Amino acid sequence: MAERVRIVEVAPRDGLQNEAVTLAVAKRVAFIEKLIAAGLTTIEAGSFVSPRKVPQMGDTAAVLKAFEGQGGVSLPVLVPNMTGLEAALAAGAREIAIFAAASESFSRKNINCSIAESFERFAPVVERARAEGVSVRGYLSCVLGCPYEGAVPLARVVDVAERLATLGCYEISLGDTIGAGTPNAARAMLRTVAERVPMKSLAIHFHDTKGQAVANIYACLEEGVRVVDSAAGGLGGCPYAPGASGNVATEDVVYLLDGLGFETGVDRAAIVEAARFAFEALGKGRALPRSR
Ligand code: HMG
Ligand code: MG
Repeated sequence: MAERVRIVEVAPRDGLQNEAVTLAVAKRVAFIEKLIAAGLTTIEAGSFVSPRKVPQMGDTAAVLKAFEGQGGVSLPVLVPNMTGLEAALAAGAREIAIFAAASESFSRKNINCSIAESFERFAPVVERARAEGVSVRGYLSCVLGCPYEGAVPLARVVDVAERLATLGCYEISLGDTIGAGTPNAARAMLRTVAERVPMKSLAIHFHDTKGQAVANIYACLEEGVRVVDSAAGGLGGCPYAPGASGNVATEDVVYLLDGLGFETGVDRAAIVEAARFAFEALGKGRALPRSR
């Protein structure tokens, strides 16, 4: 039987959070419905962050409410602190993701605190979430470079990844926030982290700024990772990572995985349709970046 790779679709969060246009809740819900119809079972639905900082993710509660009681799909949301957790729980979230960084400057710009302070904030969030039966994923940004500091020491990546795991995150998503990685660097980073956090608890999250994401994913699959984050249409970018482009496109990841003989349960053509819907809603017309 073909080996399975789980795709974590992040377009409704990482894809939309940096767009000039804020999509109305109904459009975000319709986009997620199309992604579910394409066979995705984990779809990041939004974030509970300051609407002043990221207005595109305002009303994530209403997005979640639209899927209340729907089984078979996990709709994680980003949560930076207790304020966010309270709101996420009230909206019925069953999975959250906390987000840390391996770079002090990025941590400060993104969530307005040091790495150490971020863990002080995360500890009660994880404790409360888990007490409520809510699973917690952990993101680690800047694993292959920082937009403010440049190179990031691998030892710090390993250290922060391990701290996220120790805190109780069931999975750590290693984020190449600015798409700086190349395959050998990605492979070495993953291998080193996996010496301290089991590979089965690791995911990879590549932005495609320099067109290296699919090559990096291939290298990481060879290392043994089996969870890949991606965004339909290659949408995305972090408001605090200037110059970084979109996430790796889900349709490209599915093409790669299909070709390698992995099972994903995802229909590539349906992903392209979902991406087209999002592009039109965002006023990008049919301008999907590459020929699909
Ligand atoms: P802060 O200023 O330190 O927080 O922000 P604060 O506690 O001092 O509160 C300031 C104001 O924000 C207050 O409102 C709070 O109520 C409000 P005011 O009194 O001024 O009206 N506030 C909130 N409102 C809604 N939800 C909340 C919340 N918390 C405080 N949860 C904070 C800290 C983290 C909130 C802020 O810096 C923020 O929202 N940052 C945005 C972070 C973000 O969304 N970044 C993008 C996602 S990360 C990413 O893209 C990387 C990733 O994809 C992986 C990768 O690629 O590497 C995951
Ligand atoms: Mg990202």
